[in-house]
Order: sequence, then C-alpha cells, then structure tokens
Amino acid sequence: MFITFEGIDGSGKSTQARLLAGKLEALGREVVLTREPGGSPGAEEIRALLVEGDPDRWSAETEILLFTAARRDHLERRIAPALKAGQIVISDRFADSTRVYQGATRGERRAMVDSLHAQMIGTEPDLTMIIDMDPDAALSRGLARDSGEDRFEEFGAAFQHKLRAGFLGLAEEYPERCLVIDGAQGADEVSADVLAAVEARLA
Ligand code: TYD
Repeated sequence: MFITFEGIDGSGKSTQARLLAGKLEALGREVVLTREPGGSPGAEEIRALLVEGDPDRWSAETEILLFTAARRDHLERRIAPALKAGQIVISDRFADSTRVYQGATRGERRAMVDSLHAQMIGTEPDLTMIIDMDPDAALSRGLARDSGEDRFEEFGAAFQHKLRAGFLGLAEEYPERCLVIDGAQGADEVSADVLAAVEARLA
C-alpha cells in the first residue's frame, strides 16, 4: 500500500505522516516513511537545488523537470522496492504536489506536468490524505520553523490560497484515492481521522 500526504506549506502533513507511520508499526506493519522532494540519496541532492535560494532561481519548466527527476530516482531506488517487498510506503508529498505547485499556480502547466508524469512516473498512490488548513494560519506556522528551506513559502499568502484551492480541486478530480482531512483540528484528532481512513482501506 502506497499512502501519500499532501497539503499547503505548514499544514501539519509531515507530523501526520510520522504519527501514522508510528501507529501502523505499533500494529505490526512494516512501514517505510519517506518524503519529497527527496527520499533517496540522489533525490535529496536535487532537493537542495529546489528548496534553497531565490524564489525565481528556476523557470517553471526547469522546476518541473527537477521535481520529476527527483521523483523518478525516489521511485526507482526506494518506493518501488519497498512496495515489492510488501511494505507500506508513506510519503510526505508526491506527484500531487507537482500538479498543484508547478501545474496550476505558476501559469497553466498542468498538461506538461501530466504528460511528464505519464512518461516518467506512471504510479499513483492507493490513498492520498489532503490535510486541509487555512492558508494564513499555515503560512505563519511554516515560516516560524525557519528551516532555511523557505524558497516556496516566500511566494507569499496569495500563493498559499491558490495552492489550497488546487489541492481541493485534486480531491474532486481523484475522489477514489483522495481524502480531505480537516487540519485545523488538534494533531491527535487529525491523526485519528487519518488512521481510521487507512484502516478502512486495509480491511
Ligand atoms: P516540503 O519539504 O514538504 O515542505 P513543507 O514541509 O514546508 O511543506 O516541500 C518543500 C517545498 O517543495 C514545499 O514548498 C512544496 C514544494 N514542492 C513543489 O513545489 N513541488 C513538488 O512536486 C514537491 C514534492 C514539493
């Protein structure tokens, strides 16, 4: 089973991915917790090129290619082997992030993202948790972390509102695998909603 977490910057999805991994392990499942961009040594190197530096460091097209290159390496070296071994893979972001961040927010490049995805990735998650959250609250949370990886957060609040709309649009486009979870609840409540959804799928 391949589970992904998606949402705007600072939505709490990374915390939720970690909590789910811990709960599934406690239930005796073998879990691989990973993230994008990154998740394999090569993809982590590409990640540094993407998340550091000026917001306009790359053109939208170059950015799509870099995210897809990182994802291809992550898929080849980490995700596919783990799924083949029967493990549950939980990824903090995957292709839906590219559909929303690169495909719908910096001009209309969704067709380009989709065709590259079809050629180079061709894999969709079994279940995608979209952690939905008010962008203004989420943005202050994201910047507060001051990770040095804030190239994307620096695009600002209007950008985050577009992202939220993009993720909610994807949930409508792929209702069979996407679930919208209310991220404004406390972390424990969100985590309980997530586990219930995963257990329903596993059953
Ligand atoms: P991430 O590490 O998930 O940041 P955060 O924990 O703050 O949400 O992702 C880094 C940034 O990369 C984030 O702003 C989202 C962006 N991103 C894309 O633009 N496209 C993609 O395909 C992916 C995977 C991430």
